[in-house]
Amino acid sequence: MKFFIDTANIEEIKEAGSWGVLDGVTTNPSLMAKESGKSFEEMVKEICSIVNGPISVEETKEKAGDIVKEAVELSKIHKNIVVKVPITEEGLKAMKELRKKGVKTNCTLVFSANQALMAAKAGANYVSVFVGRLDDIGENGMDVVRETVECFRKQNIKAEIIVASVRNTEHVTEAAKSGAEIATIPFGVMKEMVRHSLTDAGIKKFMEDWKKVKK
Ligand code: E4P
Repeated sequence: MKFFIDTANIEEIKEAGSWGVLDGVTTNPSLMAKESGKSFEEMVKEICSIVNGPISVEETKEKAGDIVKEAVELSKIHKNIVVKVPITEEGLKAMKELRKKGVKTNCTLVFSANQALMAAKAGANYVSVFVGRLDDIGENGMDVVRETVECFRKQNIKAEIIVASVRNTEHVTEAAKSGAEIATIPFGVMKEMVRHSLTDAGIKKFMEDWKKVKK
């Protein structure tokens, strides 16, 4: 399974990258807006220089022609850029064109297996199912992921499923069990995945006992 980090924060990307666990990065306008000081393009270039894998950045237009134009410009920033396109009718038209032009797309804001099927059919390379936002409204986000995985496997659909809007470590375990190819994980959740209170207690005890060993 591939792990992407869901952030535009350079320090978080550098730190998680140094652990050797990062396969890619996903950003969105809200994550970009949290970072200050650097321009959008500077941030994207810096992220691309840290992680050698797919880097998702989101286009911000509504009409297919405009989405395509913006996506083509974004794709020129770096060879690893993947353009996030929300699932709308205009988005589908744009993803079809972008597939022809060789610009990779990540269809975003997907909340149902049907949306995922439409995105993949139009030519999206990645489909991001937002589990946390579904849980927030009382639905079960992971059920949608499992359904999407089943549809894609039975139909031999090649688009990769990204489990997005991850809120906790359980989401990641469930994502792995579902067979989805990728989870995009916030830095805080990634840190929690490493930690366990018994590991901390075990290290403390070993350190104490090591002091008692004759050297
Ligand atoms: C995915 O690519 C999105 O950036 C992200 O997972 C959205 O998560 P949120 O629902 O926590 O904003």
